[in-house]
Amino acid sequence: MNSFLKYAKPYKKYFLFGPIFMVIEATGDIVLPFLVAQIINNGAVNHDIPYILRTGGLMVGFSVIMAVFGTLGAKFAVNGSVNLAADLRFDVFSRIQEFSFKNIDDFSTGSLITRITNDITQIQTFAMSLLRGVFRSPVMLIGAVIMAFRLNSQLAIVILIVIPVLGSAIFTIITKASPRFTTMQEQLDKLNSDISESLTNIRVIKSFVREDYENKDFSVVNEGLREKSIAAMKMVILQQPVITATMNITTLAVVWFAGRQIIVGSMPIGNLAAFITYITQILMSLNLLANIFLQGSRAIASSKRINQVMETTIELDDSHAAFPEAMVEKGEIEFRHVSFRYFKTNHENVLDDINLAISAGETVGMIGSTGSGKTTMVQLIPRLYDADEGEVLVDGINVKDYSLKKLREGVALVLQKNTLFSGTIAENLQWGNEYATEEEMRAAARIAQAESFIDSLPDGFETDLGQGGVNLSGGQKQRLCIARALLKKPKILILDDSTSAVDTATEAKIRKSFSENLQGITKIIIAQRINSVIDADKIVVLNEGKIVGCGVHQDLIKTCVPYQEIYYSQKEKNKEGE
Ligand SMILES: Nc1ncnc2c1ncn2[C@@H]1O[C@H](COP(=O)(O)OP(=O)(O)OP(=O)(O)O)[C@@H](O)[C@H]1O
Ligand SMILES: [Mg+2]
Repeated sequence: MNSFLKYAKPYKKYFLFGPIFMVIEATGDIVLPFLVAQIINNGAVNHDIPYILRTGGLMVGFSVIMAVFGTLGAKFAVNGSVNLAADLRFDVFSRIQEFSFKNIDDFSTGSLITRITNDITQIQTFAMSLLRGVFRSPVMLIGAVIMAFRLNSQLAIVILIVIPVLGSAIFTIITKASPRFTTMQEQLDKLNSDISESLTNIRVIKSFVREDYENKDFSVVNEGLREKSIAAMKMVILQQPVITATMNITTLAVVWFAGRQIIVGSMPIGNLAAFITYITQILMSLNLLANIFLQGSRAIASSKRINQVMETTIELDDSHAAFPEAMVEKGEIEFRHVSFRYFKTNHENVLDDINLAISAGETVGMIGSTGSGKTTMVQLIPRLYDADEGEVLVDGINVKDYSLKKLREGVALVLQKNTLFSGTIAENLQWGNEYATEEEMRAAARIAQAESFIDSLPDGFETDLGQGGVNLSGGQKQRLCIARALLKKPKILILDDSTSAVDTATEAKIRKSFSENLQGITKIIIAQRINSVIDADKIVVLNEGKIVGCGVHQDLIKTCVPYQEIYYSQKEKNKEGE
């Protein structure tokens, strides 16, 4: 919790004066019943109209002050808690932006969403009730007890019996409920993971007609959340009836005892009215305190989850880079005895002792069966993951010795599973370079063979893309992604199966324009079709995480068995197609 104090600092004003204003309001609450008693005892009983008017006027004055400070206090509580939550949310969000792929895999997107929304809301709710009640409730509790004693110390003994009994009942309820809220929050994680996965993949779900399955899947998590919520709430709903019942029994007891005293004339009638109001106030403030504790326990559970995000070691850290100022200048790449696995505990290598040298400006094709490790291998170059053994060098410098920003500026990777964002085509292209001029965008689009289809759209470069580029075909999206990468003017360009949805004629044009326009750039082209890499300076053949062949097409076709297998299987297919 301590780590959240710094978020209150900029809003000191609200956190300091909010509770103070609430205390002023509470003081009014204490004084008013006393004045009512005075009016009844001295004014009403004796028909003393001026006394009633004077005391009544005083009461109006107190009410006005209470209204003003109550409103201010509530306003400060809202401002303080909402601002704190907004700042915290921003920090958590930007922390997540720093996460590596591995970090995100570890948390799951759904859980991150829950943390950034629901968990922060818990903290906000707690901060708000803290601001409203932290001083107000104790002041009201103690003040009302004192006033009750002043009115009638014999009767007030009843209160001294009631407070500990009620206090321990509430305490039991909260300690039972609190762990159940933690479980509820975890269940909410699962629900959000499920929702975010379904919504992101809604198109696939529809095309496989999996709606029923998804609904079933969802209903399981939803049912889980229902059960956990009811289990948690079951405890909390007890709180209110317990308090109300206590209040009624206490009032009854007080009226019983007071009745006798009034009959014998040892207690003025006005004091009874005030006394009962004080009992109500005592129980209400206990209730408020209980709520603060309850919300506090939920907020502690949530703040632990927030801290997990804030304190996660970011897998890919460049603070120890030996050459933070180095830039990728030539585009040479070398893999030296590189091994890698996604799950560090199980020793199955996804990449196994990879050795490969690529000179600046070379075009390298990569081919291999699905799951052979192609994507994994190229992701090590811009450090989306780090090698577990061996090293990856760019221009002779270990990638870990660059600043991540500079390294990634030099390396453009068109991911296999690519995404565009909502916004216009131009805005999407400017992800590659926010200052790109229209001519530069046009040039990049031309090389990627995207210019003509962009121009054929009614709004050209200003065409608005739906979320994720829904209104483009798969091949059009891929070409935009290539153009976006080109705008970075990288030294190394990696295309991970980025022309898979483009027809072979257009793909051939892309290859041609690459060799004409991108001479100084090192290009790695991962492909399923041998045709896509046939003219490459060298072709790397991967199989089960190992390089099983490396050379030009003419040599590989003679010497490399896995390559021959891929080549002939594709030839067969082509024949069948003819
Ligand atoms: N994020 C990940 N977490 C765990 N395992 C992964 C992850 N990504 C890939 N793998 C595993 O690593 C292996 C290599 O995957 P990779 O994506 O590198 O293959 P690929 O050669 O690119 O395949 P494809 O041609 O289908 O794209 C596979 O066995 C895959 O299951
Ligand atoms: Mg892949």
